[in-house]
Amino acid sequence: MSRLNVNIDHIATIRQARRTNEPNPVSAAVICELAGADGITTHLRSDRRHIQDYDLIALKQVVITHLNVEMAATEEMVEIALRVKPDVVTLVPERPQEITTEGGLDVISHEETIKNAIDKLRDSGIFVSLFIDPDLRQIKAASKLGSYQIEICTANYARLNENPGDPTVRRTREIEIEIERIQTAARAATREELKVAVGHGLTYRNVGPIALIPEVEEFNIGHNIIARAALVGLDRAVREMIVAIRTSFI
Ligand code: PXP
Repeated sequence: MSRLNVNIDHIATIRQARRTNEPNPVSAAVICELAGADGITTHLRSDRRHIQDYDLIALKQVVITHLNVEMAATEEMVEIALRVKPDVVTLVPERPQEITTEGGLDVISHEETIKNAIDKLRDSGIFVSLFIDPDLRQIKAASKLGSYQIEICTANYARLNENPGDPTVRRTREIEIEIERIQTAARAATREELKVAVGHGLTYRNVGPIALIPEVEEFNIGHNIIARAALVGLDRAVREMIVAIRTSFI
């Protein structure tokens, strides 16, 4: 059965809007776990726009399921991970002015930097996942560098699903082709003995077809759950996403 990690960054986004101490991401993590989440995901960005270093330390002490920290493969970030020791580090690309992560890592072009980061993290007992596009060359490269898992970027799939004002255009051929790409990538990764996660832009509305891909073991979902939580409460929002993933059909 696939796992849901809830990305709680936007709880910190609300807190940072006032530079105060509420809402507390640790409290959110506890609620997510009580609602049945299998893990907590958080992104320590270089600009510290939401999660702060002290959040990671507190989360590490409190999270009892599984802590996945997303970060850029920089020396600064790797040092922090070695100190905090989350269960998993997901290496992601970061561009300073981006609104959110814009796509997968180019593992091929940044082979040396990524290999260095993987080696250091692995040596200290941290599993490493690489956030990459559904691209077979990138999967081969991830496997060659000794990654434990890949997280397939679903941003393009999510974008194709957004047709504001025209719901009749959903499930077009383009969406089907993107699902096939993700499925092919997931199969290829499994053949390379990589674990497979997915994430970015997934929602209650679009997660179904991705949840039907048998190789996908883990979902990392943030914005949509926290957005819903603002209106219906975090416990309910997490439970509803678990149902959306586990009872999906086309
Ligand atoms: N996975 C990765 C690697 C991410 O960078 C993000 C965004 O921080 C997510 C998953 C979650 O994306 P979303 O907030 O769109 O669900």
